[in-house]
Formats: sequence, C-alpha cells, structure tokens
Amino acid sequence: MLNKIIIAIDGTSSTGKSTIAKRLAKRLKYVYIDSGAMYRALTFYAIQKEYISKNHFDTNKLINDLSNIYIDFKESKETNKFEVHLNGMSVEKHIRSLSVSNLVSKVATIGKVRKQMVKVQHSLGLNKGIVMDGRDIGTVVFPNAELKFYLDASSDLRAKRRFKELIDSNHDISYNEVLSNINLRDGQDMSRKNSPLTVASDSIVINTDDISLDQLENKLLSHVTPLLSKK
Ligand code: DC
Repeated sequence: MLNKIIIAIDGTSSTGKSTIAKRLAKRLKYVYIDSGAMYRALTFYAIQKEYISKNHFDTNKLINDLSNIYIDFKESKETNKFEVHLNGMSVEKHIRSLSVSNLVSKVATIGKVRKQMVKVQHSLGLNKGIVMDGRDIGTVVFPNAELKFYLDASSDLRAKRRFKELIDSNHDISYNEVLSNINLRDGQDMSRKNSPLTVASDSIVINTDDISLDQLENKLLSHVTPLLSKK
C-alpha cells in the first residue's frame, strides 16, 4: 500500500492556492483542508458577537470566549466537500464576505487564536493524506510536511481573479475593493509577530502569473509523483 504524505501550500492572498489544492486533493484522493476558512469562521463569530468591527477589536473578549468556539470540518452530503463548521453549523456561505475578509487578518494575529487553530490542524493531519493551504502550513503547522509549495503572483492579477470569483458568486463588490483587501491582508499576514507568512526554506516557490491551472497542476504533480512512488 502506498504511504500517504502531507502537502502544504502557502502563499499570499488569492494566488489560487485553494483552487489548486482542491484539484490536487481530488487527483490524489486526499482530503483538502482550507485553513483560512478556520480563521474566517472565527472572524465571522467575532463579528456576530461584536468583539470586532472596523474601528474596534476587543481581543480579551475573544480570547476569553475561545473555549466556547469549536471549529472543524465535516463532509457535506450535498457537495461531498469538506465544509468548515462553527459550533456544529456549516458557515461556508458566510465567510467570504468583504466584512469577514477585511477583519480576518487582524483576528489571525492573535497568538492564542493561532494556537487553537493549529491544534485542530494537527489533528486533521494525523493520518496524513491531506493537502492543506494557508500561510503557515509549511513553516509552523507541518514543518515536516513531505512536500511544501509557496505560490505567489502579482497583486493586480490576483485581484482580477478574485474579483471574477466574487462576482460569479453574486457578491456586490468593486475591483478596487478587492485589490485593497488583498494588499491589506498581505501586509498584515507578512508583518505579524505570530507565525508570519514567510517562505519555508524547503518550499518549492512558484509564480502563477503566467501559467494556467492545468500547467500548475502538472507542475505540482511532477513533484508529488516521484515522492509517492519512492514509498
Ligand atoms: O486563505 P484565506 O485568504 O481564506 O485566509 C484568510 C486569512 O486568514 C488570511 O488573510 C490570513 C489568515 N490565515 C492565516 O493567518 N493562517 C493560515 N494558515 C490561513 C489563513
């Protein structure tokens, strides 16, 4: 029987990490885990509880409430996809809004929040056979992952792709709002004290500016296949 591995995909916002991670997981019959969805679900909760808004963030209230917040993934019977659940309820439909996108990086700066998320992420990787995307997967969550990719692309291209995705899923948003959100999140994700977005020394760095999804998938698979046949 082939051994399973852990594949970490990190990178800046909207580089297509989740799209390619999903494709790779499907191809390998692995589980895809969107670690950003966990931070988004927590942010959605914090907004509902009014711990955070545009001009205010009561970090202590959020930290004190962390023991009441349970985030995990369950496979949806309708879509056969793993959806993020907040205290037992799927929140997939609520976590991609601009209000969550604009605040999630702030929530993700908090060390205690990250500690709780990483615990769940470790449990999801126990049996390997996962593709997980995020910002600190290859550096902090799974530093021993068998394969690590770091994706990047120009912010203009990333904003164009993300804008199209959001418009296609009926979000009312302008291109400039998407671009400034991407720049805001990149800045916060790279400059935070706890687990900032950096390139792991053993990551394979890929710029996705000029390649199609099929080419990207083939490129990733060219690194995966030799590892699987070695086992
Ligand atoms: O992958 P995403 O854009 O949906 O992630 C949303 C935010 O969550 C991102 O701006 C930073 C944070 N995040 C993080 O800090 N660590 C991760 N492993 C994944 C996401």
